[in-house]
Amino acid sequence: MSGKFETIYRRSIDDREAFWAEAAADLTWIKPWDRVLDDSRPPFYRWFTGAQFNTAHNCLDRHVEAGRGDQTAIIYDSPVTDTVRHITYAELTDQVARFAGAMAGIGVVKGDRVIIYMPMVPEALVAMLACARLGAIHSVVFGGFAAKELATRIDDCQPKLIVGASCGIETTRIIPYKPLIDNAIELAKHKPVNTIILQRDRQLATLVPGRDLDWDSVITAAKPHACVAVAATDPLYILYTSGTTGAPKGVVRDNGGHAVALNWSMRNIYNMRPGEVFWAASDVGWVVGHSYIVYAPLLYGCTTVLYEGKPIGTPDAGAFWRVIAQHQVSTLFTAPTAFRAIKREDPDGKLIQRYDLRSLRALFLAGERSDPATLEWAESQLNVPVIDHWWQTETGWAIAANCLGIELLAVKHGSPTRAAPGWDVRVLGDDGHPAKPGEIGNIVCKLPLPPSAFPTLWNAEDRYLKSYFDHFPGYYQTSDAGFIDEDGYVYIMARTDDIINVAGHRLSTGGMEEVLASHPDVAECAVVGVYDEVKGQLPLGFLVLKAGITKPHVQLVAEVVQLVRDRIGPVAAFKTAAVVDRLPKTRSGKILRGTMQKIADGLDVAMPATIDDPAILGEIETALQGVGYAQKQPAISP
Ligand code: COA
Ligand code: AMP
Repeated sequence: MSGKFETIYRRSIDDREAFWAEAAADLTWIKPWDRVLDDSRPPFYRWFTGAQFNTAHNCLDRHVEAGRGDQTAIIYDSPVTDTVRHITYAELTDQVARFAGAMAGIGVVKGDRVIIYMPMVPEALVAMLACARLGAIHSVVFGGFAAKELATRIDDCQPKLIVGASCGIETTRIIPYKPLIDNAIELAKHKPVNTIILQRDRQLATLVPGRDLDWDSVITAAKPHACVAVAATDPLYILYTSGTTGAPKGVVRDNGGHAVALNWSMRNIYNMRPGEVFWAASDVGWVVGHSYIVYAPLLYGCTTVLYEGKPIGTPDAGAFWRVIAQHQVSTLFTAPTAFRAIKREDPDGKLIQRYDLRSLRALFLAGERSDPATLEWAESQLNVPVIDHWWQTETGWAIAANCLGIELLAVKHGSPTRAAPGWDVRVLGDDGHPAKPGEIGNIVCKLPLPPSAFPTLWNAEDRYLKSYFDHFPGYYQTSDAGFIDEDGYVYIMARTDDIINVAGHRLSTGGMEEVLASHPDVAECAVVGVYDEVKGQLPLGFLVLKAGITKPHVQLVAEVVQLVRDRIGPVAAFKTAAVVDRLPKTRSGKILRGTMQKIADGLDVAMPATIDDPAILGEIETALQGVGYAQKQPAISP
């Protein structure tokens, strides 16, 4: 290959410092860097060392100073509250500066942590950007997590402040957020000094005098605060993501490298121009929301859509088309699960015909594998390039993508195309040998990683090394398995750990097993991810009860389902478990989770050579049929 993409890609690898220094020149630096890449302590590579920077200045003030203050920064579209609101760059800058002033007024300073637990409201963005303005480190926690998960994050990052809202709205259901915050603070050992609560009129929260402050009152009383200079390498945020145990990993993002990579990606991957409307239909609680609802569109001077609704049910499967048409969206970015949900309700795309979608130039999908059937449906309905791209919370932006802004390469369904500039993606066998084209193995990235990749895990340097760098020295282990074909196209097939992907949400089955095992009647358990037509995967539990338990199985399953909901949250979507007499194991005692998953999915199962007792597979199949699984299927979309 010798096209434009190839030239740019090669330069990003062969001359990486010049490449990223050039990209960095598009941003405003308080003090320029001493070194573009500090490689003195691998694998702790640092970008733009010595530089002073402020992310909020680059997202906001910079555009206002350049005369773009009247441009809309955020379109808040909330079908669940029947609201559409436009917020200009000048207005957003003012709100952010005031909220930064309010936080400074209660003692928040550079380096302090602030947890944000809010639904999809503009104030969530204001809070994030205000932290960036002060140099405080935000940690946004997705609203679908339970109080216990919030408490774990409070104890890990020890925030001085929690910014929350009185409630969220899930289609028509009001979810009271404040009691969850109160409960989490009670459960946590670390106690934040204050909370600031946005009172939403659907459900007001009770405030604890002296600790809880009202958003409106503090922002009205506050004086605007200037941007604080931080080191480019200082943390901008911590975003917790599922690890292989119940303890989440605190992925750290820096300021300078993050801004450089994201700003570059808007033009080169998404083919956007400043002033255009970009819509990432995700949630600010996920990495896609951090990068492409908040930081990238604002750094680049686009208008970002903040959508508080669902692809279906708010009010119907035409919601996405309504938003695109109403706000002249140029590029939509979402997870394939959203399209599967829409397709199921409107298979012929009748609702699409009702809207003028001429503004839409491309659809980007990520968060989970894009199954070819969904891709083809989206292509035929929308008539624009549909681009699958692959990334992770750890990286903050795409590792592999078809870079529309550089050159649209041939699309191969099932592949997120080639490694993006900056990423040297390889496939290695378990013993570290380089895989041949087409051979499945561990997908790794040769170090150094490009800007925006996580420089460490919060408070967990050892875990950072052990989880990502120890197994294949000199490489970042992505924990995804797959292959690269003769044309350099990457294929992501599965996770190599116990992470499953439910509706584009990354969840740990190990974490769920910890919860099931804590039930007093459960002797042993396992959780696997089984195929689901809309969500891609769903967790399914297996329970072996302690001797002498006579409780009806239906009741027991209801109890463990509730336990997972209480401890992890509704986002886990854990709804089904089968009670079995024993679990299939190898002779050395390893639970054969993969085999159980295949049986549940109705696939043919080869008898594992190391199985302890082959008769058990029949028992598992019968138990699964009892809960609606293990129906033989001809083929399941991978
Ligand atoms: N606050 C509180 N609860 C939440 C929540 C939030 N922010 N987000 C989700 N939940 C709850 C849901 O109400 C649901 O609860 P239930 O079991 O009581 O019904 C549960 O968590 C599971 O949510 P979800 O997986 O989103 O399922 P859903 O059935 O509500 O919607 C989809 C399914 C496919 C429509 C939805 O997941 C979706 O729009 N996905 C789009 C892509 C996306 O956001 N991807 C993220 C990464 S890009
Ligand atoms: P998260 O950190 O929540 O973004 O989840 C990252 C994981 O989601 C990856 O490690 C993959 O397993 C999966 N993933 C994300 N994007 C894709 C994609 N385009 N194709 C296949 N899997 C993906």
